[in-house]
Amino acid sequence: MEANVSAAVLVTGATGKVGRRLIPLLLRRGATVRAASRSLLPARTGIEPVRFDWTDESTYEAARKGVDAMFLVAGPVPQAAHADYVGALLDGAAEAGVEKIVLLSPYGVGQAPPENPLRRIELALETSGVPHTLVRPVAFMQNFSEGLRWREALVEGIRERDEIAAPGGDGVVSYVSTEDVAAIAAIALTEDGYQGKAYAPAGPEPLTLTEVAEHISWAAGRRIRYVETDRTPIRDALLAAGAPPETAEHNSQVYVHAFSSGAQGVLNDDILDVTGRPPRSFAEFAVGAAAAWRR
Ligand SMILES: NC(=O)c1ccc[n+]([C@@H]2O[C@H](COP(=O)([O-])OP(=O)(O)OC[C@H]3O[C@@H](n4cnc5c(N)ncnc54)[C@H](OP(=O)(O)O)[C@@H]3O)[C@@H](O)[C@H]2O)c1
Repeated sequence: MEANVSAAVLVTGATGKVGRRLIPLLLRRGATVRAASRSLLPARTGIEPVRFDWTDESTYEAARKGVDAMFLVAGPVPQAAHADYVGALLDGAAEAGVEKIVLLSPYGVGQAPPENPLRRIELALETSGVPHTLVRPVAFMQNFSEGLRWREALVEGIRERDEIAAPGGDGVVSYVSTEDVAAIAAIALTEDGYQGKAYAPAGPEPLTLTEVAEHISWAAGRRIRYVETDRTPIRDALLAAGAPPETAEHNSQVYVHAFSSGAQGVLNDDILDVTGRPPRSFAEFAVGAAAAWRR
């Protein structure tokens, strides 16, 4: 049964792959939403859009004023400064009455050393004193249909050249739907009992990129093939998105490892345990996303 709450919830990354799906789930639970992103969304009943940019502290107050809960999606290309941005946004949050925070963080960051930029964001949250939930999903299914903030090439390659060009080889990933990630976040933002916990939402089957290509072929109605690349396209895309050279080098190595090592080929019950529903399969996702691959 869904909670009926009257909380005001700040959703950062409101235009993103999780944020966009989270907002209607929060509204259905009775919450009101402050939808924060750089591009201003249109207003709707229950949704108050605000312009918000992590790199511009003058946008923080309008975003955080009077909210009871926050969904945090940190910067586009994780750099050291993002932990400071999160620390600044959360300065005074506990005293101001913020009761719940959900941070979207990548899979495996809990094991990273404290100086890792992504782990530093999690640690900044821990020092805020606000009860929080860490949601660290494996890679999203929607990367194949909606792209990544810093890399559109994946979906374009499928649509224009019938290929998934990426590093990864035979490595498996249990790709997760952002619908399921949003469902966990909606519950943790509006119900008690989820704070102080960490979840690693994963899909129901570890897939190689060749198997991903087969699912997409079936849904798109034409053959899509997997073409293995080295990390160069990822490094170049990170550079184009504004990452400093050393960040681009390091992050591209991390991405290749994530896709080729099988480390994200995990199975767990986190989605079932929190939402009461099994995770969506890649085949279900692909049928719903087929329009993205149409020429
Ligand atoms: N993609 C994956 O497979 C995956 C897996 C696990 C975890 N994650 C985590 O999920 C998060 C989302 O990643 P994603 O690549 O998939 O992105 P996304 O959800 O497609 O979009 C990210 C959101 O961030 C906003 N944004 C970008 N730059 C911003 C800035 N300077 N200030 C404020 N908002 C900004 C964007 O809106 P505007 O451009 O309108 O501002 C957009 O709403 C990341 O933190 C990532 O670590 C991703």
